[in-house]
Amino acid sequence: MRLTILGGGGFRVPLVYQALLDDHAEGRVSHVTLHDLDPARLAAIGRVLAAQADGVPDAPVVTTTTDLDEALRGADFVFSAIRVHGLEGRTIDERVALAEGVLGQETVGAGGIAYGLRTVPVALDIASRIARLAPHAWVINFTNPAGLVTEAMSRELGDRVIGICDSPSGLGKRVARALGVVPSRAQLDYAGLNHLGWLRRVLVDGVDRLPELLADETALATFEEGKLFGTDWLRALGAIPNEYLHYYYFNREAVTAARAATQTRGTFLLEQQRRFYADVASCDTPALAAWHATRLERETTYMAENREAAGAGDRESGDLESGGYEQIALALMRAIAQDQRATLILNVRNRRTIEHLDADAIVEVPCLVGSSGARPVAIDALPDHATALVASVKAVERAVIEAAVTGSRGAALRALSVHPLVDSVAVARRLLDAYQEQLPQLSYLR
Ligand code: G6P
Ligand code: MN
Repeated sequence: MRLTILGGGGFRVPLVYQALLDDHAEGRVSHVTLHDLDPARLAAIGRVLAAQADGVPDAPVVTTTTDLDEALRGADFVFSAIRVHGLEGRTIDERVALAEGVLGQETVGAGGIAYGLRTVPVALDIASRIARLAPHAWVINFTNPAGLVTEAMSRELGDRVIGICDSPSGLGKRVARALGVVPSRAQLDYAGLNHLGWLRRVLVDGVDRLPELLADETALATFEEGKLFGTDWLRALGAIPNEYLHYYYFNREAVTAARAATQTRGTFLLEQQRRFYADVASCDTPALAAWHATRLERETTYMAENREAAGAGDRESGDLESGGYEQIALALMRAIAQDQRATLILNVRNRRTIEHLDADAIVEVPCLVGSSGARPVAIDALPDHATALVASVKAVERAVIEAAVTGSRGAALRALSVHPLVDSVAVARRLLDAYQEQLPQLSYLR
């Protein structure tokens, strides 16, 4: 089986490759093609993968290329994990927004919109090439903002593109641990959009254990979401929100913390990653050790501002391990390729799952996966407050896609203005001006 990874010089590729190395089952991935625009990044990641494969006799063969069409031809699966304009772009997204006093996070609020506006045109081009060159391939989208980008690609690829994120399963694992339950035994009733979902029930042997957890203040204080949101708010909601909802429910505090920080997440990662890729370019640096150290530092500092704003302290050691992102991708690929049925929380077309959204809206919900792809399972309606937020954010995503497809600056302005975390059309206008000034990729908006 042949897997192509777009964004193949990306920092998380070794996570995927390690999962492939650990997979010895029949029908496993035998060839990996890494595609990236930057040959230096490909070479650096190639060195890390070679170190991982050292001494593993059946290691998947790795090839690298900067030719997109060549990378796509013959692929059975395509992982798309690109970052248009790199971490430089992420930094601009953040700084422009923070200067206006609004959030610049890469997937939430103004920052997510700017990132979406420059990513969707590229994602659409990739989707149409896949439709032409590898029409039978399954596409697994990791590119953020993942829900929005998956929705854009699904216009070309229908159900053959599936979006993934590790945050719902990470939440599920933490909640199971807090309940003293093995994660695989907990069935998660989770629904919403990417980075905008709620865990409403945790079924263990058919019994919902969430009320028990919500009643237990000590247990709630043992994991990330309990610390971020606080007992009283979780009880008032009667659900556990995705950690990214901290940006909504505690927006003022999150923005204040982001403005007070000496550098944004994007700037921190830009410098960290520059160091890593420069170090690994030199043959004297042991590539795999450098990669491990950099990964651990990245994990340790993840969402640090939110934790600081909430007084949540450091991350739990269990949350620093890898296993989320790449395990979901592998489980999904195996379920499709081997028809090994699995239930996974994925970004797929809604059909009639979330009542108030139309059939083509990409939603993040539990899906049954097998050789014919991923099908959302029927779920209960979302509560009113969640319905309202999901509807608003979906309208923003639709406006971003409309802007990207038609080149309409008006649609981009609408996306920014109607976002619940942008509080004035005047602010939205200034944001759009500044983004267009600093991001050449947005010059298509007229
Ligand atoms: C989580 C999110 C991803 C995000 C990743 C890394 O896994 O679900 O969407 O890409 O964290 O975040 P970072 O700030 O380290 O780039
Ligand atoms: Mn994610």
